[in-house]
Amino acid sequence: MSDRRDVQVAIDGPSASGKSTVARAVARELGFLYVDSGMLYRALTRAVLRRGRRGDDTDAVVETMRLCRWDMQVEDGAVWLSLDGERVGPELRSPEVAEAVSDVAAIPEVRHFIVEKLRSTRAFGPLVMEGRDIGTVVFPAAAFKFYLDADPAERARRRLRDMAGMGAVAEMEQVQRSLERRDRRDRTRAEAPLQIALGAEVLDTTSLTVDEVVRYIVGRVRAGLARA
Ligand code: DC
Repeated sequence: MSDRRDVQVAIDGPSASGKSTVARAVARELGFLYVDSGMLYRALTRAVLRRGRRGDDTDAVVETMRLCRWDMQVEDGAVWLSLDGERVGPELRSPEVAEAVSDVAAIPEVRHFIVEKLRSTRAFGPLVMEGRDIGTVVFPAAAFKFYLDADPAERARRRLRDMAGMGAVAEMEQVQRSLERRDRRDRTRAEAPLQIALGAEVLDTTSLTVDEVVRYIVGRVRAGLARA
């Protein structure tokens, strides 16, 4: 870790394991940039749906990916994506995008393209990136790697709470089924499936608070940086 600006903290894990909340807070505490890698897959998925095409229509997805203009920029401590000049944000968490995004994220051409975009963000400075393949594929040499997990019922409860915060109402059972479907697709796809990266620390967050997880990760990173 000779270059203090070239430091990556990789946080991977299944849907609703608490990655986003934790990664955002860890980045803020450390003064690092926050990068939500799922945002790129979701933004492409929305662009495909807006053109009236489906996420499992590989040709349409790849064509949309090539036609769009992708710009990454830094704002408010995070890296943001603009697709065709439109800054993407929380609206990407709609149920339609959530249902189709795993199909889009399973397409090898899409993964290669987005992995390159994600790798390019290291030039912005030290960062905390969350996703499914950050420690395995995007930054396999990252100095700090964590894998967050929580039991399925707790993840469904967290997702319901997030949805309620955005004014959406859903059934617990339906949310849990949708998470399980997505996890299955993320874990079993041929290209860069969700798995624990070599050297990653696994944290079961089922009975931990966000604060506890954040403090633990920040402590590990600070200790590691002090040793380097
Ligand atoms: O983290 P998220 O829920 O926004 O991710 C949305 C989808 O994108 C999810 O199905 C997994 C996929 N994804 C991925 O395959 N690789 C990443 N690095 C990030 C997300």
